[in-house]
Amino acid sequence: MKTNKKSKIRNVAVLTSGGDSPGMNAAIRAVVRMTHYYGVKCYGVLRGYYGLINDEFVEMGPRSVSNIIQRGGTILRTSRCKEFETSEGLKKAALNLSRRGIDALIAIGGNGTYMGAIDLGKIWKGKIIGVPGTIDNDLYGTDSTIGYDTAVNTALDAIDKLRDTADAHERIFLVEVMGRHAGFIGLETAIAGGAENVFIPETTTSIDEVSKQMEMNYRNGKTSSIVIVSEGDEEGNAFTIAKKLQKASGREYRVVVLGHLQRGGSPTAADRRLATELGAFAVEQARIGKTGVCVGRVGGKLVLTPLKIAVHKRKKLDSFLLKIFKGLAS
Ligand code: F6P
Repeated sequence: MKTNKKSKIRNVAVLTSGGDSPGMNAAIRAVVRMTHYYGVKCYGVLRGYYGLINDEFVEMGPRSVSNIIQRGGTILRTSRCKEFETSEGLKKAALNLSRRGIDALIAIGGNGTYMGAIDLGKIWKGKIIGVPGTIDNDLYGTDSTIGYDTAVNTALDAIDKLRDTADAHERIFLVEVMGRHAGFIGLETAIAGGAENVFIPETTTSIDEVSKQMEMNYRNGKTSSIVIVSEGDEEGNAFTIAKKLQKASGREYRVVVLGHLQRGGSPTAADRRLATELGAFAVEQARIGKTGVCVGRVGGKLVLTPLKIAVHKRKKLDSFLLKIFKGLAS
């Protein structure tokens, strides 16, 4: 164990908040192990911001995080906490942190988690570092968020299986994937799964054009198709889009909603590594006094981005993937 001399912090709290994502446990493990390594005390906060408000802290050491790097979900549990959006809730949380002598909070989660961290930073003097944990990959300041790669691979596994039955019955399937306001999972699974079309919130997709394309596919010898629908598409969810397409073409469209399946499962190697690097990097940044920032990996390098920028800037989809999609799907 290293000595604590250089550290600006003595007590760290770590929490997971919002939708869980595979790899959150690996990030918790990295935070707990690295704080221990630096001689800093670490507390886990249960159920995200709800646990901050209700004083649900547990002391953690290296053995509290044994055998979790491969597990989905989060051992700290998580929640979406409305009370944390009120000034009473924030005050209770700040009081609990101060009473326990916490001088840095590491918050693992998505956009809502970062917004909560910004609000807390206005009334609490401790250091706050965000770690990007969401399957949606919709956070600015990192090329990939923890859990995104696993979610894409889970969706792909389902799509590959659907291909078999779609082919056998010569059917068209609409597969709805998660990503509340963002099409990252949609586009990535569409490219990697060889989908015939994709509906994502960032682009407009015309029902008539997709319907015509499906007819053309049949004329060109394609007997089955997979169309990916991001849950946040402006044309509606997969059931609504299926109705519209059926009306436009008279053809039957089968719907599969992958839903929360995409949030579970053992994290991929890429997610375990990302979570480990970012969790450890967050501890190092808190130690040297950084606050109001989130960690990320951009172009292979570990970086810091102010939380305010991370929540307000919109991360863009890969324009090259968008450009080539039609050609690949012909
Ligand atoms: O933010 C992650 C996410 O999985 C989104 O993709 C999805 O829209 C949302 O969470 C679902 O949230 P909940 O589990 O609260 O229904």
